[in-house]
Amino acid sequence: MADLLKEAREKPVVVLGDVMLDEFVHCMKEDSPEPPGLKLWVTNTEYRLGGAANVALNIARLGGRALLVGVTGDDENAKMLRHKLVEQGRYTIEAFLVIDPSRPTTVKTRFLSGGVAHLRVDREKREFISGPVEKQLKVQLAGAIDEVLGSPGSLIVSDYQKGVVTGGSGSLFQHVLHSRVPVYVDPKYRPAEFYRGVDVITPNLKEASELVGRTLDTPQEIEEAGPELLKATVSKAVLVTQGEDGMTLFGSSEDPLHIPAIPVKEADTVGAGDTVISTLALMRAVGATFAEAAIIANAAAGIVVSKVGTATCSPEELLAQFVK
Ligand SMILES: Nc1ncnc2c1ncn2[C@@H]1O[C@H](COP(=O)(O)OP(=O)(O)OP(=O)(O)O)[C@@H](O)[C@H]1O
Ligand SMILES: [Mg+2]
Repeated sequence: MADLLKEAREKPVVVLGDVMLDEFVHCMKEDSPEPPGLKLWVTNTEYRLGGAANVALNIARLGGRALLVGVTGDDENAKMLRHKLVEQGRYTIEAFLVIDPSRPTTVKTRFLSGGVAHLRVDREKREFISGPVEKQLKVQLAGAIDEVLGSPGSLIVSDYQKGVVTGGSGSLFQHVLHSRVPVYVDPKYRPAEFYRGVDVITPNLKEASELVGRTLDTPQEIEEAGPELLKATVSKAVLVTQGEDGMTLFGSSEDPLHIPAIPVKEADTVGAGDTVISTLALMRAVGATFAEAAIIANAAAGIVVSKVGTATCSPEELLAQFVK
């Protein structure tokens, strides 16, 4: 384990996807004479990397070298996002970002007081990126992939369905599949054809249901869907994450492997999926088996959900999970 984490240092991983900024507006709650009767007095505002940028942060935090490929708007939030990428200080996140002036930088704003969330406001455009932007993105992606080919690293696609991950012939996603590096996909609600040909896919239960076209709920239903998920996505491995019920790995051996979640008292699950795919890809890149990488990813996700807000896990925290 310590060896794997040591090997992971500076290991390059390309992250392509929907880059976001999470904005946390901390407030004091006051009564308001106006409808709806609630007034929030802003005390301070905090920013964190979200979506694909949070995947990159997870890689960097584990010691890897993250190369982030995505799109921002041409606005103040894009500047804040770039600032957060470099502000990470001792972690390396290299930006391969395309500016698209026709869309805003995706921002999720949460208004909080006393640890309670009152409102979430999303600023985003959900249409697919335009042809010219996609072309620029392919250039950025090729540049990032060049950096990992010799290593050999891997490529994560973090699809939040905000329009960066385009499908069909000649699309960005087809480009990804021809990149000659292992491709890991954290999907959103799309049919399996969209992701066909990836190496590894990590749907949560809802996304897995979408991939097979029916609701999966019980452990038996999930287990039965495994071979179907592998076949429909033509992938080598499928990891179905199930929140507090852990995760199930299909494809690495004859039998599915169920990994129970680490018990956490008050779980804050935001970003758990980002941690799973980052850890899985990084550990595989340094030689862990699928089963080992999934067990480590489950432990990393357990650490992250025990923290408040979009969080990450350090190599020391991860190691401590295995030596106690
Ligand atoms: N309540 C919890 N307690 C312990 N571990 C958890 C909990 N919730 C999630 N996890 C861990 O995180 C992993 C991913 O969680 P989940 O299936 O909710 O992903 P997700 O829906 O993609 O999350 P998100 O999109 O919010 O990041 C789980 O497989 C598990 O390892
Ligand atoms: Mg997810």
